Amino acid sequence: MCGIVGYTGNRSMDSVLLVGLERLSYRGYDSSGIAIVSEGELSFWRKSGKLHELEEMLKDKTLTGTVGIAHTRWATHGKPNEINAHPHLSHNRKLAIVHNGIIENFHDLRMKLSRKGHIFRSGTDSEVIAHLVEEYLQDDLVTAVEKAVLDLEGAYAIAVIAESDPDKIVVCRSGSPLIIGVGKEENFIASDINAIINHTKDVVYLEDNDIGVVMKNDFYVKKTGGAKVSKEINHISWDPKAAEKNGYPHFMLKEIFEQPMVVRRIISKMISDDKVVLRNFKMSDSKLKKIKRFIIQACGTSWHAGLYGKYLLEKYARILTEVDISSEFRYRQMIMSGNEVVIALSQSGETADTLAGIREAKSRFFNVISFINAKNSTMDRESDDVIYSYAGQEVGVASTKNFTAQLISVYLFTIYLAILKGTISEEQERNMVAELKRLPEYMEQILSQSDEIIKIAEKYYLSKEFLFIGRSVNYPSALEGALKLKEISYIHATGYPAGELKHGPIALIDSRLPVVCIVPKSETYEKMITNIEEVKARKGKVIVIGTYGDEQVKKYADDIIYIPEVSEDLSPALAALPMQLLSYHIAMKLDCDVDQPRNLAKSVTVE
Ligand code: F6R
Repeated sequence: MCGIVGYTGNRSMDSVLLVGLERLSYRGYDSSGIAIVSEGELSFWRKSGKLHELEEMLKDKTLTGTVGIAHTRWATHGKPNEINAHPHLSHNRKLAIVHNGIIENFHDLRMKLSRKGHIFRSGTDSEVIAHLVEEYLQDDLVTAVEKAVLDLEGAYAIAVIAESDPDKIVVCRSGSPLIIGVGKEENFIASDINAIINHTKDVVYLEDNDIGVVMKNDFYVKKTGGAKVSKEINHISWDPKAAEKNGYPHFMLKEIFEQPMVVRRIISKMISDDKVVLRNFKMSDSKLKKIKRFIIQACGTSWHAGLYGKYLLEKYARILTEVDISSEFRYRQMIMSGNEVVIALSQSGETADTLAGIREAKSRFFNVISFINAKNSTMDRESDDVIYSYAGQEVGVASTKNFTAQLISVYLFTIYLAILKGTISEEQERNMVAELKRLPEYMEQILSQSDEIIKIAEKYYLSKEFLFIGRSVNYPSALEGALKLKEISYIHATGYPAGELKHGPIALIDSRLPVVCIVPKSETYEKMITNIEEVKARKGKVIVIGTYGDEQVKKYADDIIYIPEVSEDLSPALAALPMQLLSYHIAMKLDCDVDQPRNLAKSVTVE
């Protein structure tokens, strides 16, 4: 989604704000802008397009000032053009704001303010905040922001600077993340630690309805309409280098190649003496044992990992599991008969739909266990228990390493529950863990076939659409393969359970349609072969993801990518890799920006 960064201190504003925006640009990137107060005067620069447009505009300038705020936008209300880019200014142009989120009542507020003579320049919901703060500004910026936010409905993270208070950045959040970065004779604000991690690792997380007042040598936090609150300063342990490409042309490719290392890391964190352990888990084993039903909710790729979880949790832990897309979850009646647990899966820990699902579940007294990658994210803080996916920072907008990390964490959580419940034996656990330990090496074997995958990409990159099919645990793999392809190459792709082909989608098949068939050795193998024959009979182009040495499937394949033989349960964690590489190389052939695909944002913090 949009990204915010702000600075007060002795450095030049452009050195902090432009670098901050650069590090945030994976979140949203249709326009960007900066505002500063220098010698009591407000100046601003905005540009549509990617960040380099703004950098080009500012290349001969050194921006000095007392306070500065900057924004990279992912459009919700109003076209992605310069006029709608942030910062937005008040009517008198003496105050500027940046905003992440959506102001739901902006029409009403805009009408009221227009009647008072405010002239609006943009088509955004955000601009209303600047006018509203101006309306309330008599002598104190903090009070004015406090009054203004009481009028706002919706989700927001806001930063405000004004000529009248040239030494302060006033920030406030409700539903969108915001942090204060604490430095020496300098302080920062940001929507995401990435923006400031190369300057400070000491951060304060703001909660909903917190107002932060940030000055060069000091900061404080108070509740909207309330008193000051003391805040813990958290020290971030991760290395800013993790957010660099390390010689890879794209973050996505780097992250695809990191997957063996991620699996090794999960193994080191979640397995001890060949047994699964859940670290710092608060829910007692006796309570875990009593769970009768899981309701999983997540979005996008995380939802696909949730679908995989259903197969495993039902098969091994014998716990009824439902899976919902978070944005639909809230429209269901959550029927509670006791001993249900809601599971959320999220890489970012900030996805608004998933967070809303967690809050809804908690308001109805469900326990919430979340599988999260980003430590200290809002979901991390609001869930009853958290299992980290240990994927490390994922910068590429298309999720890759976090998907396989989620699959593995769900796999291990299932084993833990199944042992507790006695639905698998200790020997089964040992075998399942032993197989997992071989996975990193298997992944390396797949990644070494990059050249063959490039050839397949070259053959099919001009296709107008793709179909992905799989059965059982590889039905979610088919959905994920299709999502990866469409989001980074803009080729239409659909994932289907292979058995469903004959109920409609088979009508699409002709000699121009590539069909990616995920067909590892498994219980559903023979049925998959039948489905592949159906595709072949209609002249579809068959791209097989199959097991090394499988001669039978080779007969039907126009192209084949091999994965090592593993149990069906772990096959999705291998099948994902060739599909990620295929999508990546197709997108490369089409000259698409894989790390920042059009219209997408890494962390979707609006509903
Ligand atoms: C796809 C992708 C998205 C996310 C979805 C949920 O590659 O990245 O579909 O999976 O927006 O995001 P998280 O997992 O952060 O909740």
